[in-house]
This record gives sequence, structure tokens and C-alpha cells, in this order.
Amino acid sequence: MINNKDIINIEEITKEDIFKILQLAAEFEQQGIPGNLLNGKIIGSLFFEPSTRTRLSFEAAALRLGAKIIGFSGTENTSLKKGESLEDTIRMVDGYADAVVIRHPEAGSAQRAADAAAHPVINAGDGANQHPTQTLLDLYAIQKSQGKIDGLTIAMVGDLKYGRVPHSLAKVLTVFDGVRQVWIAPENLAMPKEIAEYVTAHGGQVEQTTDMAGSIAHVDILYMTRVQEERFVQQAEYEAVKDVYILQPEMLHGARPSMNILHALPRRYEIPQSIDDSPHAYYFQQARGGMYVRAALLAMVLGEK
Ligand code: CP
Repeated sequence: MINNKDIINIEEITKEDIFKILQLAAEFEQQGIPGNLLNGKIIGSLFFEPSTRTRLSFEAAALRLGAKIIGFSGTENTSLKKGESLEDTIRMVDGYADAVVIRHPEAGSAQRAADAAAHPVINAGDGANQHPTQTLLDLYAIQKSQGKIDGLTIAMVGDLKYGRVPHSLAKVLTVFDGVRQVWIAPENLAMPKEIAEYVTAHGGQVEQTTDMAGSIAHVDILYMTRVQEERFVQQAEYEAVKDVYILQPEMLHGARPSMNILHALPRRYEIPQSIDDSPHAYYFQQARGGMYVRAALLAMVLGEK
């Protein structure tokens, strides 16, 4: 049960709870989000790092559920500028709010926030570590577009080293039956060893390759990722890999008719706009599902469902 629990790492949510979240999100999408479920609740929305989709979909979800929002988007006007610590900032907001949503550039920051707070903390992306609520909406998009998750072949392409989205997705896919993962990345952006070891230890089937074009015909989901410029220490290293995987319309000619392209967004070079009209493109529908998934999560964490 996730009632009153922190949501920090995807592997801490049971398969049963994942299905409950997806089911409730579908109900909210089909029937509307009940406007009074979180009446009287206040959500702290603390974004130490830029965001469009995650922050606005969380805030829209909370408002539609009847909650109110406090928080910030950027630290410029906060006492962090005077040297206040993350923990002290969280302790303050924890005293004002019923739950805290946090995005922060440092891996492990969401856990630090959870350790400092009495109320539930939800990780909205902590550095290159994890992005568990993105993964829940990814599962929602996969289930909705493919009718199932079990048995699929799911390719992740691009920056698997710094991408918190593929880290969380690779882990959660091990709880589904017969899912085959294809990791497509240049050697210096390969999936971190600890994630690969986790997936193997949990029975995940993985193929690693550098060949995107040659893999497309064999997959059900092609999950493109942005090369995370902000995580590179040397700009030259980023420039060397930023254009390695650019999806071109002709690469889709041999794709299965039901194959869908996902992307957490924002995109840079990896999906040109010429792909947007393809019947395979599903990334904007994927992002729209985020509000329903985050509404379901808030409703369940705050114990109102
Ligand atoms: N997918 C995602 O996390 O997007 P934002 O950075 O815009 O929140």
C-alpha cells in the first residue's frame, strides 16, 4: 500500500500497487478527476531544477483533486540563496504541507528530503538517479497503446547513462512477464553497471546493441531519450554524442504496424518534427496521461482512494 508512503524509487512500489495506480488513472481519464478528493490538502511543489511537464501535471492534478499548491520553480527567491540546506528547507515546507513533490539536480536528494520530512515525499526526478512518476506514466502509455505490458519488446535509445527515465523503466520492467529490453546506446552512454546488475538479478532479459536502425523492426516500443547535456562535465563530450541517434522517417518503414515511439520529453535532436505525424508517434499522448497518473498517485498517497 502506498497510502502515506514516500515515492522515491520505482522498485519500492509493488506490482499490485502499480496496477492500482494505472487503473485509477484510467478511471480519472474516462470519468474525470473528482474535484473534492483532496479538499483541504496542501501540496508542496519544490522544483530545484527546470521542468515543464512534471511540475505542471502534478500541479494540475492536485488542483483538479481540490488541493492547494505552495512551492517554487527555481530557487532564486528562496532562502537557499542565503545558504539554507535542503533538509532545513524541507522541514519548513513539511510543516506547512500534507505532501511534498521534489525535483532536484542531485541523485539521492529525494531520499534526503524524505528522511527530513514527516509527510510523504514524492520524487519528481533526482539528478541522474530516478524519475519514478515518469515511469508510472510510461507504463500507462505502454498499456494504453499496446493493450498490455507482459511479453513486449521495449527498446531504450540514447543516453542510458545519465537518463533517470531509462534507469527507472529498466528496473520496473523486470516485474512484468516476458518483457525483453533492448538497450541501444554508444559505449560511453551505456546503462550503468548497477542498473544492469539489478535487471539481471531480477530476471530481466536484455540485449545491448549500438544499432538503432537494425533494431526497429523487432520492437513494440521504441523509447527515445534526450542526451542529458546538463549532466556532462565536459561540453566536448556532450557534442561528441548528441547526434548519435536521430530517428528518421525512413527508419520506420520496416516497423511493426503497432510499434509506438515514446519519449519523456523535452526532445532535442533525437526525434525530428517530421516524425510527429507518423502513426507510430505516441509521445504527446504519453505526456497527456501524466496528469491522470499523478492525480491517481496523489489520491492514493494521501489516502483518499
Ligand atoms: N518528462 C519530464 O520530466 O519533463 P519535464 O522535465 O518537463 O518535467
